[in-house]
Amino acid sequence: MGLLCNFEFGTPRMDAIEAKNLRKSFGPVTAVDDVSITIPEGSIFGFLGPNGAGKTTTIRMMTGVLIPDAGTVQILGTDVNKDPLTAKLKLGVIPENGTVYSDLTAEQNILITAKFYGMDRASRESRTGEILARLGLMERRNDLVRTFSKGMRQRISVACAIVHSPPVLILDEPTVGLDVYSRRLVIETVRHMNREGSTILLTTHNIDEANALCSTISIINRGKIVATGSPEKLKKTFDTSRYVEVSFDRPVGHGLFSAPGITRAEPWGDKWRVYTDDPDRAVKHLASVAEREHLTIVSIATSNPTLEEAFVKLTAGA
Ligand SMILES: Nc1ncnc2c1ncn2[C@@H]1O[C@H](COP(=O)(O)OP(=O)(O)O)[C@@H](O)[C@H]1O
Ligand SMILES: [Mg+2]
Repeated sequence: MGLLCNFEFGTPRMDAIEAKNLRKSFGPVTAVDDVSITIPEGSIFGFLGPNGAGKTTTIRMMTGVLIPDAGTVQILGTDVNKDPLTAKLKLGVIPENGTVYSDLTAEQNILITAKFYGMDRASRESRTGEILARLGLMERRNDLVRTFSKGMRQRISVACAIVHSPPVLILDEPTVGLDVYSRRLVIETVRHMNREGSTILLTTHNIDEANALCSTISIINRGKIVATGSPEKLKKTFDTSRYVEVSFDRPVGHGLFSAPGITRAEPWGDKWRVYTDDPDRAVKHLASVAEREHLTIVSIATSNPTLEEAFVKLTAGA
């Protein structure tokens, strides 16, 4: 059941996506091996993993394109395999290689998709205009898509996926290989849809993108989910060495850095690198020492754990 009781507000709340124990093999290859994912309504969820990890296969099972060997998927409480039509009406999907009609214009692609979804003429036309503008396609709306660049085609693909304002939007590597402008428009549109109430699931192998967009991330490797959490939580889990880099206006000796919480200090170019378990405490110590010794702090910075560190550790050997 995807139904949760939200006692705080007294209203029942669905999970947008609830995938349970999904499994899929292609011959000897187990592409997806017991994957469960729950995505609450309103979030932007990132599915992150190296090439071949099983992201697309999972997405295809979630969107009813591929029948799982085992497991179930519910979209806002509707089972994708038992009631595919109802489930698909709640979804907007951008598949890995977005499909658009090359022999139609930009505008016709969006209008025809709106018609498939049963929207009336007035809302088809107003929504299409709004989306063409949002995705920077207004000037090219009467041109055939066959004349478009990859980035423009992908923007059409996004336009078609959001035309019916789907409550759940699923995007498979939406920005891979796009020019900077297209990429920015796609990301801004994803954010906009989320603000308007859509729950988002996107796959990516771009760590920075997941970090910037997603409230929760699952990392998949070789068909299995190896970690789930907020980007900050994942970074902290794998944050092994923290340090503070500091430079003063004149040379200082080692003695300055012996204090509780500082494990060691070493000269680092024109700076000192001060290793610590507690950067806040180390920074305060350095400030008070500088005050006492009449030193001027020229620069000071703490190291930031990166999501990349977490990703590399979790997917080692992929
Ligand atoms: N239709 C298919 N037939 C055979 N093998 C497949 C098929 N689709 C995916 N695979 C294999 O399943 C694994 C996962 O692929 P995929 O889900 O596309 O990964 P990702 O999207 O994370 O790059 C890979 O080893 C891939 O070669
Ligand atoms: Mg893929």
